Amino acid sequence: MIHFKLRSAAAAAASAFALVAAPVPVQAQTSPMAVTVNVQTDKTAPVIDKNIYGQFAEHLGRGIYEGVWVGEKSRIPNTRGYRNDVLAALRELKVPVVRWPGGCFADEYAWRDGIGPRSQRPVRVNTHWGGVTESNEFGTHEFLNFAEMIGAEAYVAGNMGSGSPREMAEWMEYMTADSQSTLANERRRNGRDKPWKVKFFGVGNESWGCGGNMRAEYSADLHRRYQTFVKVPRGVPLVKVATGANVDDYNFTNVLMERARGQMDALSIHYYTFPGSWESKGPATGFAEDKWVSTLKNALRMDELVTRHKAIMDRHDPQKRVSLFVDEWGTWYDQEPGSVPGFLYQQNTLRDAHVAALSLNIFHRHTDRVRMSNIAQMVNVLQAMILTDKERMLLTPTYHVFHMYQPFQGATPLAATVSGPQYRHGETFLPSVDVSAARDASGRLHLALVNLDPNRPAQVTTSISGVTPRAASGRVLTGPALDTHNTFDRPNTIQPVAFSGRVEGDRLVFDLPAKSVAVVAVD
Ligand code: AHR
Repeated sequence: MIHFKLRSAAAAAASAFALVAAPVPVQAQTSPMAVTVNVQTDKTAPVIDKNIYGQFAEHLGRGIYEGVWVGEKSRIPNTRGYRNDVLAALRELKVPVVRWPGGCFADEYAWRDGIGPRSQRPVRVNTHWGGVTESNEFGTHEFLNFAEMIGAEAYVAGNMGSGSPREMAEWMEYMTADSQSTLANERRRNGRDKPWKVKFFGVGNESWGCGGNMRAEYSADLHRRYQTFVKVPRGVPLVKVATGANVDDYNFTNVLMERARGQMDALSIHYYTFPGSWESKGPATGFAEDKWVSTLKNALRMDELVTRHKAIMDRHDPQKRVSLFVDEWGTWYDQEPGSVPGFLYQQNTLRDAHVAALSLNIFHRHTDRVRMSNIAQMVNVLQAMILTDKERMLLTPTYHVFHMYQPFQGATPLAATVSGPQYRHGETFLPSVDVSAARDASGRLHLALVNLDPNRPAQVTTSISGVTPRAASGRVLTGPALDTHNTFDRPNTIQPVAFSGRVEGDRLVFDLPAKSVAVVAVD
């Protein structure tokens, strides 16, 4: 057994709360493993932007059609075409922002196809995702009204790959103009009087790949050109997002920052987690511990990626004006057997809950620059919050993690160090326990504790500087198997249950089950 110890609080705080494991061999231990957490209330970082809890909804598979939109005539209970069960679940989740319409879809999307009477909208082919027909029933009005209905900000991704700057400019005017322009009046005739608030606008998507196969230099130049024409009325806030790097393409970030930083408010990166290789990712369920550990290891890589992209951005923008948006992340497995090819429909298990929690904890450690993230995707696609099957719906373990983590939205992160045994499987060593601590606006302290080890519970002894805790309670998510998941027949197989710590002197002690995610409030 190997111990890991995090470096000193000061060093951790200096590196924006980075976790660095320094392995030290120790004697073999019996369960449960002893883990120590120290929270330093005087070492804070910029608040956790609530938009770190953002979602992504693309015209892909059953993400929009069936997942969100069933149409007014559907037998599935709906409000003006949006399914009621999904609306209620998303409202309950307090989704801060939704990115739409893609993804790869964005760079083939012609916005005019999706306005006006639905029966007259053109039918296109969704060439990226399954080659199925796209009815365009869900368009600009349907998306922006949906965002309002669930109380989320709109993040619209424009077409830089195959559209023109004029189309992009006119779309923006259609959505946001308060004038008597022809476009604003067309919007009014189509049923929306007041302009919508479109706070975030993405200039293209994955320009290095499905968005146009561009070199970074060309992408930077195109960004400069297209964004020039993306305008909102004076005084209306708008965040322009440049499409950025894939995974560890640091050159892409460097070139974009060097050549176009003055023309952007945020730069994106995309990173997906899969257990195997891109060609053979591995199944979403029915996997063994080797895939558990490789998935979590790959999820933890997010910290390195964010750290290195940030370092490049820091060189060009030491004031940290330009945000880093991780506007696509999450797990990507082999599709469920029998599902439509290209629909990216996958089950969601306790493993996904761990990936979600670890990723959110990482974003909490980089709030100096990471001000939005959008998990891919919201319903029925990749690491979804929600799965639907005709009239049935289930909430996934990932949904439950996002729900449990709500107190972190807008809270101030506190430095936390962890020491204890490492989790080892084969030649892979990971920290056994990962922690995030933050204080919300009312002054209440919240802790998120993740036990990555699927075999050993942890006894987590926690001290919080300057605080004598009286109690700590919240919820924990765990299950008997690595792939514990909900099904349409058994939708409550895995859901959070009550969890609390006990006070021992001025410390809190948590009996954290193996393979679990817990969030507690400290009083
Ligand atoms: O989320 C699925 C796809 O992954 C998106 O369309 C694309 O941007 C990324 O490659």
